[in-house]
Amino acid sequence: MLWDKLWCLSTLLALSAEALPTLPIEPLSAPRVFLSFKELRSTGTAHHFSFLLNSTDYRILRMDEDHDRMYVGSKDYILSLDLHDINKEPLIIHWPVAPQRKTECVLSGKDINGECGNFIRLIEPWNRTHLYVCGTGAYNPICTYVDRGRRSQEYIFRLEPGKVDSGKGKCPYDPKLNSVSALINGELYAGVYIDFMGTDASIFRTLGKQTAMRTDQYNSKWLNDPIFIKAHLIPDSAEKNDDKLYFFFREKASEMGQSPMAQSRIGRICLNDDGGHCCLVNKWSTFLKARLICSVPGVDGIETHFDELHTKNPVIYGVFSVSGSVFKGSAVCVYSMADIRQVFNGPYAHKEGPNYQWMAYTGKIPYPRPGTCPGGTFTPNMKSTKDYPDEVINFMRNHPTMYNTVYPIHKRPLVVRNNVDYEFTTITVDQVAAADGSYEVLFLGTDRGTVQKVIVLPRDDLQTEELVLEEVEVFRVIWMMLRRHFPIGLYSSLQQQLYVGSVLGVTHLALHRCDVYGEVCADCCLARDPYCAWDGKSCTRNIHNTLEMVQYGVEGSTTFLECQARSPHVSLKWHLQRENSDRKKEIRSEGRTLKTEQGLLLRSLQSSDSGVYQCTATEKNFKHTLVKLQLVVLSSRTVNSILVETGSPALPHLQTSPWTPSAGQYKDLLTILSQPEMGLINQYCQDYWQLGEGSPGDPMLAVGKAKELKELKEQKKPRNRRHHDDEDEREDDDDEHTTPAET
Ligand SMILES: *[C@@H]1O[C@H](CO)[C@@H](O)[C@H](O)[C@H]1NC(C)=O
Ligand SMILES: *[C@@H]1O[C@H](CO)[C@@H](O)[C@H](O)[C@H]1NC(C)=O
Repeated sequence: MLWDKLWCLSTLLALSAEALPTLPIEPLSAPRVFLSFKELRSTGTAHHFSFLLNSTDYRILRMDEDHDRMYVGSKDYILSLDLHDINKEPLIIHWPVAPQRKTECVLSGKDINGECGNFIRLIEPWNRTHLYVCGTGAYNPICTYVDRGRRSQEYIFRLEPGKVDSGKGKCPYDPKLNSVSALINGELYAGVYIDFMGTDASIFRTLGKQTAMRTDQYNSKWLNDPIFIKAHLIPDSAEKNDDKLYFFFREKASEMGQSPMAQSRIGRICLNDDGGHCCLVNKWSTFLKARLICSVPGVDGIETHFDELHTKNPVIYGVFSVSGSVFKGSAVCVYSMADIRQVFNGPYAHKEGPNYQWMAYTGKIPYPRPGTCPGGTFTPNMKSTKDYPDEVINFMRNHPTMYNTVYPIHKRPLVVRNNVDYEFTTITVDQVAAADGSYEVLFLGTDRGTVQKVIVLPRDDLQTEELVLEEVEVFRVIWMMLRRHFPIGLYSSLQQQLYVGSVLGVTHLALHRCDVYGEVCADCCLARDPYCAWDGKSCTRNIHNTLEMVQYGVEGSTTFLECQARSPHVSLKWHLQRENSDRKKEIRSEGRTLKTEQGLLLRSLQSSDSGVYQCTATEKNFKHTLVKLQLVVLSSRTVNSILVETGSPALPHLQTSPWTPSAGQYKDLLTILSQPEMGLINQYCQDYWQLGEGSPGDPMLAVGKAKELKELKEQKKPRNRRHHDDEDEREDDDDEHTTPAET
């Protein structure tokens, strides 16, 4: 379902400065393939935005897939780029501050280039034709409307003249302070420092018809020197009145000496919050926050059991890193919305007792439960938070924090990096779809200007195996990249492209570079990149994931549906979903049907054989859809009448379908399969998969196989185009990958 997919792609965040996970999960953090900036360029799969603008800080990336455009905000510039090719006729708005403003900014003691520019920090769709855009305006935030036209073919992109608003409460003064925003139903919600000094942090609502709202000012119980990471609308249910906006941020721990000093938070407000009546006037009366944990709370895992609901609920991926230590470390944690809601439905944190400590509040909780949205499922008769009893509002003011913390799914990080010289700054996730299941591919930006492509495979109920498929250097590292808290924005999209922004610029790159893995089947198989497959000749894009083919057969004739596994011995399954049916049935060899290693033979076709055929291969934990095709069975009468009409000789009854592979094609297939070399490679691939599945207890066997494999690859060396000086190193890494028994 598209909706699910969008959740996965968009509910992403990057958080920092959390406790370092302590569980010694062995990271296979060495990528299978590392491509330097130059090597990446030479593959032709990455394109840097190459227009020379006097700009920096390409921080805001905003997709507009309806228009096939991407909007980018940098210092003094707003760009509209073509998603297919960001260098194709970019539309560029130069929006600097007036010279006088710049002078004033400099006179107030700010740096002319670093601070007194107009750093674009907000680009939100306003209506069908306009965007709302804000910049820091040389320490005097400003906003305006940008006309982008109705359709992209119009090539319109210009500032709406005479429409400049104050950006206060929408955009920070100081470009070093991150802000977040969401424009929903004409209301702008922003997490931002709203003053010149950068001391008054607030979650603000402005612009629309509803009451302007904010968090309680200078109340450290609500927000304590926060760093805003992301804002995201996540509906609870179909009931619109329950819609909540979630804020991800980190803030100072409320207690002195508390460890860690910074805590990661998830906070939320109801969109229809109107504030209190007695108190909290024009302030959120539904603001609650909880702590997000991304470390390992002890040697458990036994209590974790998989709840099927998790997969249906949206999940949130967070990137965490440790700050202030000599070595660096990061982790990726995944949270389920179900767990998050459970924490918000749990006890409130409360201070009492002789030691004045945080405890779970056990007293009477007023009605409606604090944090509930007005007019929603539980409060249909209270249309506004102004109708809430005073005790609810008072309770909210003093209890904005939940007592329980949110733990990641399975109570442990998904990915951990310890003792490495980089840290993750951002994440985006692509789902590589196979109709019977899908793989999540993580793209992790690092502070050394690279992007890692990582998949995590379940090994059994409790263990996972992480594979770094590739690491590519998207930006040449210069000192600026190392500045902390500077995320690279990463956005995956329907275009099968990753868009990456940084201090230095914008680049888009393909999600896969299959041929880089090598030119033999073994390399392709070992890479285990779900985007790639061995097609019998080369390692190529696994097109079957997305492409659905149509094949025709004639009633009474025989047809062959080709499906060749990467290795001939993996288990292949065929499923048929008949027309007008929503069920998939497994096909077995019986009667007219014969399953072969090369595909499915269907004899004396009947019209009821029409439908969608799917061939899946299971290799270790990978389930790939190799082929998905629609079979259309034409009645022999129709075909004959068409042939008669066109003057072609009519088909004799029971002739082979014209769409069955020709003798020539079969010959090709056989030649390929009978080459001794191919057989050898296939054998290795097969052994490899079996090894992973069957013999974890026998390390000697594993090592032996790895060695043989290495020898095979040595033989193959001259044929591998993309191998470099660090070849030996990489081959050693391969050994690690091929000996799962070690770990
Ligand atoms: C680029 O902009 C900076 C100020 O933002 C200015 O000092 C510099 O001269 C500009 N360089 C060029 C080549 O225009
Ligand atoms: C969109 O908003 C802009 C700015 O308020 C306005 O000028 C324009 O007419 C609006 N366009 C549509 C289609 O409503």
